[in-house]
Amino acid sequence: MRLPDSLVNRASVRKYAPEPILEEDVEQMLAAAQQAPTDASAQLYTLLRVKDPELRAQLAELAGGQRHVVEAAEFFVPLADVYRLERLLAHRGEELGDFPRTALHFALVDATLAGAQLAVAAEAMGYGICWIGGLLNRVDEVARLLDLPPGVLPVSGLTVGVPAERPEPRPRLPRPTVVHTDRYRRYTDEELEDAYRAMAPITRSGDWLKVLKRYFAKGGTQEARDAVYGLAKALAGFADDLSKDAARTLYLKDTDAASLGEAITWLLKHGWRGVLFGEGPFGESEVWIEQETEAHRGEGKTPGEALARAVEAAYPSDA
Ligand SMILES: Cc1cc2nc3c(=O)[nH]c(=O)nc-3n(C[C@H](O)[C@H](O)[C@H](O)COP(=O)(O)O)c2cc1C
Repeated sequence: MRLPDSLVNRASVRKYAPEPILEEDVEQMLAAAQQAPTDASAQLYTLLRVKDPELRAQLAELAGGQRHVVEAAEFFVPLADVYRLERLLAHRGEELGDFPRTALHFALVDATLAGAQLAVAAEAMGYGICWIGGLLNRVDEVARLLDLPPGVLPVSGLTVGVPAERPEPRPRLPRPTVVHTDRYRRYTDEELEDAYRAMAPITRSGDWLKVLKRYFAKGGTQEARDAVYGLAKALAGFADDLSKDAARTLYLKDTDAASLGEAITWLLKHGWRGVLFGEGPFGESEVWIEQETEAHRGEGKTPGEALARAVEAAYPSDA
């Protein structure tokens, strides 16, 4: 049996003809996307279809000035989404459990599977697609522009359109490097060299390291995205040790803290010589932040909430 060419010889498309996609084709792609597997049938995703040209242009800019975001007939933003689940439960009188880490994990998986299914369906119909991770440059700004509620985070963007180019399929790592049997196999130097050789055609210079370095080495673009992503994640309510309200309070005080640890680090850097955590008589968390001439106390259900209140007390809005 042979797989369709759209699966075997696919390549991302970045040049699109100025032609719309038939609505019935979009309909089919969306139906395919909705048929993607989803953990416990929860469907923890939303596919946001961006039609407004002005909004598209803003997203293209945030993604680093990627023209194809504007030029493609369609642009989707698959969103990891726990907000709808929370609403569904609340609608019938139930409260969403406290599992921010796994919630984010399964929502990202669901959104990625639905987006991938949409992409595969589009390619099977002869359209071109390209994922747009560039949105993560400023995921906080993307969340604001798209009016995302708490519990919702963009996975990436996805362009779909009538291709105006037929790019050659790009190389991949040798199969044994990415497919292991039974147990994870460690890599020999020789295998790593083979990997670089296999991927060499990906750049004009013939050196894959240049690409890896630009994105993933010290000082690369991913490092720059990480703090922004951490903040967006915390504000969406997916931080390990900060509620979304505590994250919001700390954000409004310009602390840039996406975790309790980062909030403590920020305070110690800003002249507070001590941050003292304790437990109140009713099991509540409390914290004192202190410097030479002043001290402020915060109280809350968790250390994160207590700390956010102490920061609010130390930096009142009308000061
Ligand atoms: C999560 C993700 C984010 C991506 N972000 C971008 C992007 O912002 N801009 C772009 O032109 N291509 C982007 N791509 C496309 C990759 O560059 C492309 O898939 C990779 O180079 C392999 O090439 P191929 O898809 O043609 O096989 C992204 C792909 C993925 C999966």
